[in-house]
Amino acid sequence: MCGIVGYIGKDASSQILLDALRRLEYRGYDSAGIAVISEKRKLQVRKIKGRLSNLELLVQQKPVTGSCGIGHTRWATHGEPSDLNSHPHTDVSQSIAVVHNGIIENHEELRAWLEKHHVDFVSQTDSEVIAHLIDFHYNGDLLLAVRETIKRLDGSYAIAVVCEEQPDLLVVARKDSPLVIGRCDDATLIASDVPPLLSHTKKVQYLNDLEIAVLTKDDVKIYNLDGDEIKRDIETIEWNMEAAEKCGYEHFMLKEICEQPKALGDTLRHKLDKQGNLVFPQDIETMIKGAKHLLITGCGTAYHAAMVASYVIEQVASVPVEVVIASELRYKTHIRKEDEICILISQSGETADTIATLRMLKSLGIPTLAITNVVGCTLSREADKVMYTQAGPEIAVASTKAFTTQLLSLFTIAALLAKAEQSALLDALKNLPGQAQLLLDRLEDIQRFAANQFNKTKVFFMGRLVDYAISLESALKLKEISYTHSEAFAAGELKHGPIALVDTSTLVVALCTQPALYTKMDSNIKEVKARGATALVITFEEVHTFDHTADMIFRIPKTHPLFSPILSVIVSQLYAYYCSVQKGNDPDKPRNLAKSVTVE
Ligand code: F6R
Repeated sequence: MCGIVGYIGKDASSQILLDALRRLEYRGYDSAGIAVISEKRKLQVRKIKGRLSNLELLVQQKPVTGSCGIGHTRWATHGEPSDLNSHPHTDVSQSIAVVHNGIIENHEELRAWLEKHHVDFVSQTDSEVIAHLIDFHYNGDLLLAVRETIKRLDGSYAIAVVCEEQPDLLVVARKDSPLVIGRCDDATLIASDVPPLLSHTKKVQYLNDLEIAVLTKDDVKIYNLDGDEIKRDIETIEWNMEAAEKCGYEHFMLKEICEQPKALGDTLRHKLDKQGNLVFPQDIETMIKGAKHLLITGCGTAYHAAMVASYVIEQVASVPVEVVIASELRYKTHIRKEDEICILISQSGETADTIATLRMLKSLGIPTLAITNVVGCTLSREADKVMYTQAGPEIAVASTKAFTTQLLSLFTIAALLAKAEQSALLDALKNLPGQAQLLLDRLEDIQRFAANQFNKTKVFFMGRLVDYAISLESALKLKEISYTHSEAFAAGELKHGPIALVDTSTLVVALCTQPALYTKMDSNIKEVKARGATALVITFEEVHTFDHTADMIFRIPKTHPLFSPILSVIVSQLYAYYCSVQKGNDPDKPRNLAKSVTVE
């Protein structure tokens, strides 16, 4: 969950590395550091606890020179955030420096072995062993030393290495952690993700697991563990710089919430032909239509998308759908069903549990379809088939536009499988981007509501069917960025226990978009109000069932009730965002969290 960057070229590298780290800060922000080799072949390391601004200040006070360097922004796993635990880590003579994203599972064993060979460790991290092992294997050939080192590592890693003796080289390697190489005319860069590369180039190469690349300013050579050279195509990224910048918004999260009409429109366009008919690539259509059982999985927000999809697909297509959280599915006994396929959902396509699940399913022979937002990510390369959401880069830690575009992609699958009403469903889907915009035009209403309610200590979301899935997603969003204790309940379950928690300090948000269940929801709202709670209802325009029960009603444009999640969740996203801002938090970088969970 850390971010790593590297640069080798003709320009001074320190500012380039700092700018690149700024674009990766969403991956971790406990500490940051850079290591640069000077013209006089001296390794200069600057690293410090805290946000990137601390490192920028440190580099201003103690500048570094040189045009080959690496950088790191950390989300701590092994060892508290501190100057010493920050990356880059060096060997004892401080001539080799390494940045690492991932977890070295056998680090204790390696540490003990290195200590026996008289290595003194300075940090508590698992990563430091990598620097000492490279030094141990180094005999004038950095590529060889890195290759021998990674043969001894268990776990996950993306690493970048520089060495005083070979100032014209940057060596990188990966296994189960992302790493992208950016190709320019007179420089080569690496990063954990695409955004830091965009201001330099759109030409990229991806490393596969257990590959090592040797980078010079004008060349890249990729090798496998046996030392054989591998040819890899250069690909072109379609995102532009603007997509990875705040563009005048106070936070990435608000920008990404507001980008949803475009992201939804772009995602849908990729599924329609010129006449506006639904069109899937033939192989994916055959795979989906041939399935008698669907298994859908993902983590966190992506799992909530899977949950919504299960209600929608079962209702419109009568295909049985099983939904399991990826971090559970990978460990449980999965009984393979007849003609079963699995859809794996992941914004980043790098989530460790989702990728481990994919590999487990493939070993069972279950065909896999990935839904992801990142071209070239691990999930897209390992799944049998892939469908991309067109959300553009999602930088804020809390997922927003990735979620609604995942939903839209899943809804197109439902429409493809629909037994009836396909054109009505398609019309409803086509209206969603515009309806999302209508909702966003009223964002001040939610901002005002958050300004009055942000200091509520307990916020419960409740709903039935798809509204229950969106209750879970709404509670997750609120807790992760506002740190408010929020929970979600299937509304019918309230009286089986959770209602004991309801008192006058509770805000209950009732999602009410299922017409057949309006009166049931109205009873649930009355129950919580009778215990002193304040009730906000989210329902469609022109619904008056709740006029005399709710303290406040927020109305969303009328759509097919199964597709309401795309609209109702935008209300929750905005509510969570404004509560976070009211509390003085940084919604883009919530405490203890990082985007792209590449550890288990
Ligand atoms: C919540 C959030 C996380 C992610 C989860 C999976 O706002 O962003 O719950 O949804 O970590 O990430 P991906 O989709 O990248 O696999």
